[in-house]
Amino acid sequence: MGLTRVLLGRDESREVSWLRLSGVPGMTVVGLPGYGKTQFVMHLVGELAPCPYVQFGFIDGKGGPDYDDVADRAFAHLGDDLGAALELVEGMYELMQDRQGAIRAHLDVKNFWHVGPSRLWPLVVLVIDEAHTFFHTGRGVSRADQEAAHKLIWMVEQLVKKGRSVGFFTVLLTQKGTGDAIPTQIRDVCPAKVAFAVATMEAADAGLGSAIRLYPDAHPIFLQDPKYIGVATTALEGRKGFARVRIPQVDEQHVAQLANSYRHLATEPRDLFDLACGVLDAGGSVLKPVFEGTAA
Ligand SMILES: Nc1ncnc2c1ncn2[C@@H]1O[C@H](COP(=O)(O)OP(=O)(O)OP(=O)(O)O)[C@@H](O)[C@H]1O
Ligand SMILES: [Mg+2]
Repeated sequence: MGLTRVLLGRDESREVSWLRLSGVPGMTVVGLPGYGKTQFVMHLVGELAPCPYVQFGFIDGKGGPDYDDVADRAFAHLGDDLGAALELVEGMYELMQDRQGAIRAHLDVKNFWHVGPSRLWPLVVLVIDEAHTFFHTGRGVSRADQEAAHKLIWMVEQLVKKGRSVGFFTVLLTQKGTGDAIPTQIRDVCPAKVAFAVATMEAADAGLGSAIRLYPDAHPIFLQDPKYIGVATTALEGRKGFARVRIPQVDEQHVAQLANSYRHLATEPRDLFDLACGVLDAGGSVLKPVFEGTAA
């Protein structure tokens, strides 16, 4: 079976739940500080690091060491520098356009997910942690930074809007509980939404959509207790409404070891694309991926 989903955790009836990757171009993750947003990404890295069909780019708006231990498995690892973040996202946007132009010739399909990720056409997982850091466009921000932020917002929006059929998965995390933490034009196009504990109804609305108000039993406002660290509310496939899911606790040392063991897989996806073009130029056959049992 190809890479179509990844383990999310267990719901309240201890059933295993999954996060769909196929056909999902974006995910927002919101929640109060310390409730498990970054650890959730570490869990995903742990699950996906051995898969040669996944490339990670990490942008950490916190600018701290959170991603240092898994950086080996990433083609890019940036801190809170807006200019550097914009440059990386610009590169991804260009790659998305190039993939759009080449997908028929390379993969013989219009939608990447009809064949699934492969070595030369990997799923590009771009994580922007503390995403609100990069989206300031208001007063007190220099004109140059405002321009850069507007550009970044537009490009991230495009990546999420159009990245689905060419293998991009953008993940935005924020602890800021206000509606503007992740601009609405990005938020509204992210089909996957995950909320750890939040402090206000507005933060829940921003993170999950106002429909969460119809499901008080799953409302993330009631997750404000240390016993719910690592528990998130999300919509689960095939089920109505929202459910609470406990994300597996990450053994940080283990994930760091995994990232290190599979560091040889980390390659700039642009180089892989160029390689794919070269293979075709050299008369190679259409690049249909070979599925080898990766994540279920
Ligand atoms: N799924 C989990 N199971 C058990 N404990 C967890 C889980 N996720 C996180 N934790 C604990 O909570 C701590 C904080 O988690 P994490 O750094 O992911 O929070 P965060 O939401 O990213 O916070 P911030 O907004 O400050 O970055 C972790 O160091 C860990 O001890
Ligand atoms: Mg964090």
